[in-house]
Amino acid sequence: MVREVTGIRYVTPLREGGSVPGVVEADDLGTYVVKFVGAAQGRKALVAEMIAGELGRRLDLRVPELVRFDFDPVIGLGEPDQEIQDLLKASGGLNLGMDFLPGSLGFDPLVFTVDPAEASRIVWFDALIGNADRSWRNPNMLVWHRDLWLIDHGASLIWHHNWASAQAASAKPYDASDHALSRFSPDPAAVAEELAAKVTDDLLAEVTSLVPDEWLTGEPGFDTPDDVRAAYRELLGARAVDVHERITMAPGRREKQPPPEWLRPWVEGHADGKGSR
Ligand SMILES: Nc1ncnc2c1ncn2[C@@H]1O[C@H](COP(=O)(O)OP(=O)(O)OP(=O)(O)O)[C@@H](O)[C@H]1O
Ligand SMILES: [Mg+2]
Repeated sequence: MVREVTGIRYVTPLREGGSVPGVVEADDLGTYVVKFVGAAQGRKALVAEMIAGELGRRLDLRVPELVRFDFDPVIGLGEPDQEIQDLLKASGGLNLGMDFLPGSLGFDPLVFTVDPAEASRIVWFDALIGNADRSWRNPNMLVWHRDLWLIDHGASLIWHHNWASAQAASAKPYDASDHALSRFSPDPAAVAEELAAKVTDDLLAEVTSLVPDEWLTGEPGFDTPDDVRAAYRELLGARAVDVHERITMAPGRREKQPPPEWLRPWVEGHADGKGSR
């Protein structure tokens, strides 16, 4: 189950996020980061957040609690920015809330060290959900109480933008070269068997059942929300079996480029310069 809460105070927009999520207080006295259904990324971003986030949690990865967030645009009327006002007005009803982690820091791979076993699990998980949004440029991980937390799965499950070609898209390799954890020597193949065994059809049924019907209705090619849920189950279940065979990864350290022509006389004889001619 995921809980359902109702927003009572719109606190502030998070402008660093492309979808401009909001920090909103709810009737359970909690504070949440709300991803709005009216954002340009569309409701599928919310579906991806819910399915991927809850799947990650069941693989024992740290994901802040997700809730169904009932939002009445009237609580945002004090927000002066017209674009944000439009976003809030377009988002009445059910949105997605994520527990706000106060005092968390954005993950920086040069400052924070990650255990290779944890890095392996996260890379395998990102390959499963096809997450292109965990690069060192935009890690979408937070450090909170010295632990690593995964956020922002809205751009995962990309194949759901075109179900007709989803099978083919899902069979493509997952390129983890730019992954924010690539410098911590992840070995996703080593954890594949253990993690894949957890991704049972029952577990996928549970996770997909958490997505509200209204985010799934009217999907072209499907009669009912449950038919769409079945498509997610089938695709993720099949992918879990062998996705580790399709993960491509650059070596932990970037290969050094040969020095430019004008610098070669200076590096001649030096280990880096040898063999570059
Ligand atoms: N649960 C959280 N607790 C604290 N801060 C958060 C939380 N979730 C998100 N943030 C902050 O808000 C920013 C934007 O969130 P997020 O990346 O989920 O939004 P987005 O619109 O999907 O962004 P992107 O531009 O990466 O697509 C994060 O980089 C982080 O600084
Ligand atoms: Mg982000």
